[in-house]
Amino acid sequence: MLLYENLAHEFSTLISDGHMRPGDRLPSVRHLAQQRKLSISTVVQALRSLESRGMVEARPQSGYFVRRRPARMLETAPGHAGMAPDQPVQPVDVGLSRRLVEVLHANEAPDMVPLGSALPATELLLAPRLNRLYASVARRQPRILAGSSHGDLNEAPLLRAITHRALEWGCTIAPEEIIVTNSCTEAMTLCLRAVTRPGDTVAVESPTYYVMLQLLEAMGLRALEIPTHPVTGISLDALELATRERKVAACLLIPNGANPLGSLMPDAAKQRLADLLAARDVPLIEDDIYGDVCFTGARPRPVHAFDTHGNTMLCTSFSKTVSPALRIGFVAAGRRTADIVLQKTLTSGKTNPLTQRVIAELMESRGFDVHLRTLRRRLADQVARTRDAVARYFPVETRVTDPQGGLVLWLELPPEVDCSALHQRAIAAGIAFVPGEMFSASGQYRNCLRLACGQPWSERIDDALRRLGGLCVA
Ligand SMILES: Cc1ncc(COP(=O)(O)O)c(C=O)c1O
Repeated sequence: MLLYENLAHEFSTLISDGHMRPGDRLPSVRHLAQQRKLSISTVVQALRSLESRGMVEARPQSGYFVRRRPARMLETAPGHAGMAPDQPVQPVDVGLSRRLVEVLHANEAPDMVPLGSALPATELLLAPRLNRLYASVARRQPRILAGSSHGDLNEAPLLRAITHRALEWGCTIAPEEIIVTNSCTEAMTLCLRAVTRPGDTVAVESPTYYVMLQLLEAMGLRALEIPTHPVTGISLDALELATRERKVAACLLIPNGANPLGSLMPDAAKQRLADLLAARDVPLIEDDIYGDVCFTGARPRPVHAFDTHGNTMLCTSFSKTVSPALRIGFVAAGRRTADIVLQKTLTSGKTNPLTQRVIAELMESRGFDVHLRTLRRRLADQVARTRDAVARYFPVETRVTDPQGGLVLWLELPPEVDCSALHQRAIAAGIAFVPGEMFSASGQYRNCLRLACGQPWSERIDDALRRLGGLCVA
């Protein structure tokens, strides 16, 4: 090989093995010439040869960079590209739990590369700090576990911590409307129980978080799947039409950092949503679990902040920011507080008071904001790296979301790819993910999938994505 070919080969290997990523800057021509004892013209020839192969690009005054094959952005509501908002959607029965259990069970097998569950890696969360806080709070409050199971549902310090924090996001939550729950899932369950009866219709984003669909299935509710834009969230025109045309018992939505699309409703849309639902007397069950892990500067406000009618029940938990094993969340239930208190009393009674005090102290501690900032930055970085890898390794026609928050990516593969069949091949190859069909009650999204980006970037993840991309065309 000629000298320039040697150098070009070295960089092309670094790039194709993923050691240099799209957007990374190559050392300067002068630096390379000095370091490798080559002439300037040899280095330039090597870089031009990489450029002509589309591997690097020259940027004026800045040098050479690994070329981005930009991830193709998913720009329309998935599965609804040609759909006009005046085309009504129909409610459907939900029947995916059995299949979902199989998928999640397969994903949990030992040694899987964990691109399935939307959970931040343990090292990004606060388990060790929790251990210390449990010991310390128990020492200072020796009678904390001596109370009753169904008495006062909420510990006062936690109510204070929640109301303080909500004010920081520009949202007034009154202590009287809070019910502490065992998780966000429990909060949503209580809300659905309070405002629906079997056979009712509930509007959801499409695609939506599969556990929401499971809840509807378990309660005999029908899903009305409303087209959802990957950046700005649910189509309000479609929702407007749907709630005009038929009785909708509730909306169950994720306005901030939706799972799986990562969309974030703009403030004006949140205001319109709050007004529309209040005017039609359709309760909103708002899942705000990703509000604290959005990537868009200030912490986005929940729809609850725009609702002056007490029609929004804001549900959330600390599963994405502190520990999913903690099992603590809350609902701010507006004018339906008494109904939710009744449901909570009937369902599980008081949430563990020691855990309530622990999370209250954690939220009020000085380090908590720093923790949230670091977590957001790390998740945004992991999502961006996974997106880059999708652009490198998946079929060129693949379109992928650019999430505004959260920790998942949604991919739309070429129409001929069956992602449930792909899932079986991936499981055999030790790679977990969730096929798109699990996010729809009506069997949409066969050629879509969700990738979780909760794990710090590693060669193992990069390699799994490379292999998964290969399996799409196998
Ligand atoms: C949108 C959404 N809501 C709720 C949950 C679950 O929350 P919890 O663990 O508090 O029940 C998840 C977890 O993946 C989620 O993505």
